[in-house]
Amino acid sequence: METPQSPDRGPAQQAAPSTVPPPAAGPSPSTADRLLAGRTALVTGAASGIGRACAQALAAAGAHVHVVDKAADAAKSLAETIGGTAWVVDLSVPDTVDTLPADVDIVVNNAGLQHVAPVHEFPPDRFALIQRVMVEAPFRILRRTLPGMYERGWGRVVNISSVHGLRASPYKSAYVTAKHALEGLSKVVALEAAEHGVTSNCVSPGYVRTPLVENQIADQARTHGISEEEVVGRVMLERSAIKRLIEPDDVAEAVLWLCGPRTGHITGTSLSMDGGWTAN
Ligand SMILES: NC(=O)c1ccc[n+]([C@@H]2O[C@H](COP(=O)([O-])OP(=O)(O)OC[C@H]3O[C@@H](n4cnc5c(N)ncnc54)[C@H](O)[C@@H]3O)[C@@H](O)[C@H]2O)c1
Repeated sequence: METPQSPDRGPAQQAAPSTVPPPAAGPSPSTADRLLAGRTALVTGAASGIGRACAQALAAAGAHVHVVDKAADAAKSLAETIGGTAWVVDLSVPDTVDTLPADVDIVVNNAGLQHVAPVHEFPPDRFALIQRVMVEAPFRILRRTLPGMYERGWGRVVNISSVHGLRASPYKSAYVTAKHALEGLSKVVALEAAEHGVTSNCVSPGYVRTPLVENQIADQARTHGISEEEVVGRVMLERSAIKRLIEPDDVAEAVLWLCGPRTGHITGTSLSMDGGWTAN
């Protein structure tokens, strides 16, 4: 699934510019659940797992969501369900990334993939691919979307990092490298964008119950030569005080909160959702 492919682009046209002013601070309970009405969001890796939950949450809050993923059927089906727009693209192809809509108010950089191997056996092309999808694509998306946010005086960038943006684990050199880079990119954007009403933050979860993790459980069982149950209990959650996987909807709720009207002073930070892992 990680090999470059020809883009099978969804819509032929760019998204219409958003002209809706920022919502007033302090939503009443009756409007809180539509607090993103009139906003446009772009979510990468939105066809599955955390990205899917984010796209659903943002759409439920009233945003028009650009569902970006290389998984064509799942992206189109989700876009149809939430009234969004599907963009079937491979984010490892830089030219393709540069064709995504630039005129959005919210960017959720979420697409990611994992490869588990010791450094001395790690395939260089796989390392480079992970950097392209998880670092270069977010950079390319932001360099094209920030000017519109600056012009409108409002924007939200949420980068789905990981506890591995803050801590390392063996066998995950490409992923840990990419997530640390994403945390750095997010902070630089926070500094540059502050004067324009745009915030940039990371949400950094521990293990979330998604297909990416389910694949890792199987991979790690092979690498460590232990059962899948032992991988979850003893390897994955060993450093977590809370011994259960996070649900994608819980991550989406944090993303939605960062996109809301009360978080304008939260920028350049990383919201850990790791069951106490980084408290160690
Ligand atoms: N699941 C976890 O435990 C966990 C924990 C911390 C952080 N994260 C991060 O959350 C994000 C989402 O992870 P998930 O667990 O929901 O994964 P997932 O595998 O369920 O979904 C990832 C999505 O990204 C898409 N994608 C991957 N490569 C792509 C490419 N080249 N072009 C376009 N789309 C591509 C996939 O098609 C898929 O739909 C990732 O950045 C991951 O690193 C996940």
